[in-house]
Amino acid sequence: MKLSIINKFVFGFLIIFCIGYVIMTCLINNMIVENNRVIVRSSLKTYQRDLSLYLKEYFNINELEMNETNIQADPAKIASELALRANNRIILYSADGEFLSDSANVEGRIIYFEGYDKANVKSKNKGMDSINFRQEGDSDINLAINNKSSFIIVPYGDKYIVAFSCPIIVNNERIGIFRITKDYSEIIKSSMDLLGLINKSIIFVFGAIFTFIILLSRKLTVPIVKLSKASKEIAMGNFDTEINIISNDEIGNLSKDFNIMKDKLEQQINVIKTDRDRLQKLEGFRKAFFDNVTHEMKTPLTIISGYTQIIFNKGFDDKVFIKKSIYKIKSECDRLHNMVLNLLEVSKAESDISSHALEIIDLSDLLENACDDMRIKADKYKSIITKEIQDDVNIYGNKAALRSLIINLIDNALKHSGIQISVKITLFEDSEHCVLKVEDNGKGIAQEKLCKIFDRFYKADTFLLVDKESSGLGLSIVKQIVNKHKGEIKINSEQGLGTEVVVRIPLNI
Ligand SMILES: Nc1ncnc2c1ncn2[C@@H]1O[C@H](COP(=O)(O)OP(=O)(O)OP(=O)(O)O)[C@@H](O)[C@H]1O
Ligand SMILES: [Mg+2]
Repeated sequence: MKLSIINKFVFGFLIIFCIGYVIMTCLINNMIVENNRVIVRSSLKTYQRDLSLYLKEYFNINELEMNETNIQADPAKIASELALRANNRIILYSADGEFLSDSANVEGRIIYFEGYDKANVKSKNKGMDSINFRQEGDSDINLAINNKSSFIIVPYGDKYIVAFSCPIIVNNERIGIFRITKDYSEIIKSSMDLLGLINKSIIFVFGAIFTFIILLSRKLTVPIVKLSKASKEIAMGNFDTEINIISNDEIGNLSKDFNIMKDKLEQQINVIKTDRDRLQKLEGFRKAFFDNVTHEMKTPLTIISGYTQIIFNKGFDDKVFIKKSIYKIKSECDRLHNMVLNLLEVSKAESDISSHALEIIDLSDLLENACDDMRIKADKYKSIITKEIQDDVNIYGNKAALRSLIINLIDNALKHSGIQISVKITLFEDSEHCVLKVEDNGKGIAQEKLCKIFDRFYKADTFLLVDKESSGLGLSIVKQIVNKHKGEIKINSEQGLGTEVVVRIPLNI
């Protein structure tokens, strides 16, 4: 059976309480009873001594020998004389325990009422010899017959009457027994009251301890139950559960620590999830990159292999064909070479910028030079390059990487726009950034293709003329360079109208 902590506390306490209560009340009860007996015994001893003295005096005064015959001769007189001296009721018995006389006139009955006379007793015990009448349970007399003084306590209503019997011994011979009854209600009742009070105190103390234990166990178990529920929620992935236990002790600390642990756990899980997603994405990229590289290399290699095979089969007689083949093989080799260079560029750009030499660069100067270099290519497409370059725009960056960025953007504007277009290059700086714009009025890029423009090997235009110079890696290199310089790049384009590329790089990274 599964018992909750609170029930264990209750059961445990009840068992301890029952055993403790029984033991304590027995012990206290015995102590009180024993104490009462000691008090009664010592007071009765005094009585016994006094009565023996009075009895001796009685026989001396009356010049009688102290023997059994003289006691039995006039027991009523002896009883009344002794009662007068002792100021107490006296009952006389023979040496064999036969009733002789009672100063209270009730034939030795321990319990009697006021106004309870002898005639009444006789009529009540019709058919019985009143002289020999002895009550059941008169064990004190039975012991006195055996020469032992003893007493019994007889409870009656709210009273406690003590009956005390003692043998009258003369010359080692028992000549009679006298018995006295005395009301010890005061002493015994006060002891009983004390016992009742102690019992009530024990119950009160145990009750207080019980209430305290219940409250304490509730204080302990309620947070444990809350913690257990919250742990289950967390195990199910619900991190919104917050434990709020306001307590300035270990329990309060536990709830605070639990919340901290939960937050840390949530953070860790989020980090793991992000890493997992990043790894999955990276894995996807790697696969796509590998597929694209092999695909891109397959085409020129197939062409090269095809032409060499034909030459090998046909021989070297057809000079025209051989010239055409060599031209094709050369152009495919250039394409492959170009692709390998671009791949090298990608891998270089991927490495941390901190490994590159960083320096203050005069971007205005760098841009001027790059425009001049690209003029030959512009002439090839019968296009023009115009510039609007602010002087002395200095940024902290990598010179080779930034030159590559500029060349790639101008190259794209010339290469993908068609012939006879104009390319406008602008450079200026605002409070924190330098802004580089490359605009052309060429063919533009379709809106649906703009989102993929930075993907490796992505080509928005499959126009054959430019295809042999295009590997789809330029913008991905540009994007990496911008990222390494903590900048941003935006491409706005409309088909048929042209393209605008805006790069913003912080002046100090
Ligand atoms: N200014 C532009 N006008 C029109 N299309 C452009 C422009 N710039 C880029 N594109 C399109 O975006 C594609 C990706 O450009 P990216 O620079 O990455 O590769 P690429 O120029 O084709 O090859 P690479 O730069 O590796 O020689 C290009 O193929 C082209 O279709
Ligand atoms: Mg390009």
